[in-house]
Amino acid sequence: MTAVAHSFARYLPPKIVTNNDLAQHIDTSDEWIQKRTGIKERRFVEPPVTTSDLAVEASKLSIQASGVEVDAIVAATLSPDYDFPGIGVLVQHKLGLSTVPAFDIRNQCSGFLYGIELAEALVAQKKYKNILVIGAEVHSTGLDLTTRGRDIAVLFGDGAGSCIVSQHPPSSAKTPSLNIIGSELHSDGAHASILWCEHVGSAHFPTRITAEMVEQGKCFPQMEGRKVFEHAVKRMVEVSTSVLSNSGISNQDVRLVIPHQANARINGLVAETLQIPTDRVFNTITHYGNTTAATIPIGFSHALEETQLASGDYILSCAFGSGFTWGATLFQVV
Ligand code: ACO
Repeated sequence: MTAVAHSFARYLPPKIVTNNDLAQHIDTSDEWIQKRTGIKERRFVEPPVTTSDLAVEASKLSIQASGVEVDAIVAATLSPDYDFPGIGVLVQHKLGLSTVPAFDIRNQCSGFLYGIELAEALVAQKKYKNILVIGAEVHSTGLDLTTRGRDIAVLFGDGAGSCIVSQHPPSSAKTPSLNIIGSELHSDGAHASILWCEHVGSAHFPTRITAEMVEQGKCFPQMEGRKVFEHAVKRMVEVSTSVLSNSGISNQDVRLVIPHQANARINGLVAETLQIPTDRVFNTITHYGNTTAATIPIGFSHALEETQLASGDYILSCAFGSGFTWGATLFQVV
């Protein structure tokens, strides 16, 4: 592959919501949430901050750190500001990136890796020089924050992360640039209803939303948690193994795994099955929860600042999410 991801950045809204805060209005406990998921706290936006606002804050940091001129945007989210248009154009406008194209990606927790795949291909074809790739989410306003929604509401948080994919590393990067070495993406829509938000959507007649749907809580995400858990472990192991083997890299050569963060137990099992020591698996779920498409760039932004990395080190990222969609990407420090 012939593209470099660099200038990873993150923006998390300042409001911290602990498990005990949630337990004020949901029948749950800090102990249950930590034991089952590894989450201690997450961030929630406060009005009027939107998904595109979070995306813009992270993007400004990426652009500033890189010193390059962005000529296209790829933005991944499942929680756009509006039903349409997507957040890509809103970010384009707010950043003043005059008429650059903006692609919107709808692949949930795998969205950022789908975005990297697209950006890599466009850069490799020399269609664009520097593509801003974003993952951003506001979950807090789309959750059933009552006991009825407790199986999902405790898992998610808000945030954004970004990077730039270019033909060459920038001359002035503050954190390591990463060659994109290999990748593989998958989907299986047979499982769409195991993890989805059914309403509002054009599958409903005669109108997309009714008072009854809202009363029944059908405008909130629904999930069969155990099934998602099993598929997530299986698929992330499968795709990671395939990407490593196709790249001729052994599991033991992976310096760092930066996986999606849906549940610390999922990532523990993935590492165990791949026989990669858990201290090489980066964790952000404890403080941020699951921020869907934003999770992986947030993880990279922390990891590249906080980990001693050497040129040539391999970093593996893998994700699994609603769709189902899943994938893995292998990077090498420039
Ligand atoms: N607090 C307290 N009790 C709860 C809570 C809560 N927040 N949520 C559920 N429970 C109860 C259940 O009602 C159930 O009670 P019962 O035994 O009396 O029936 C009990 O806890 C066990 O529930 P399970 O769902 O069986 O618990 P499990 O061990 O499977 O953990 C969890 C649930 C954490 C959701 C787990 O299944 C999981 O992490 N699944 C995968 C999540 C995931 O990957 N999501 C990706 C989504 S991201 C995206 O793509 C949008």
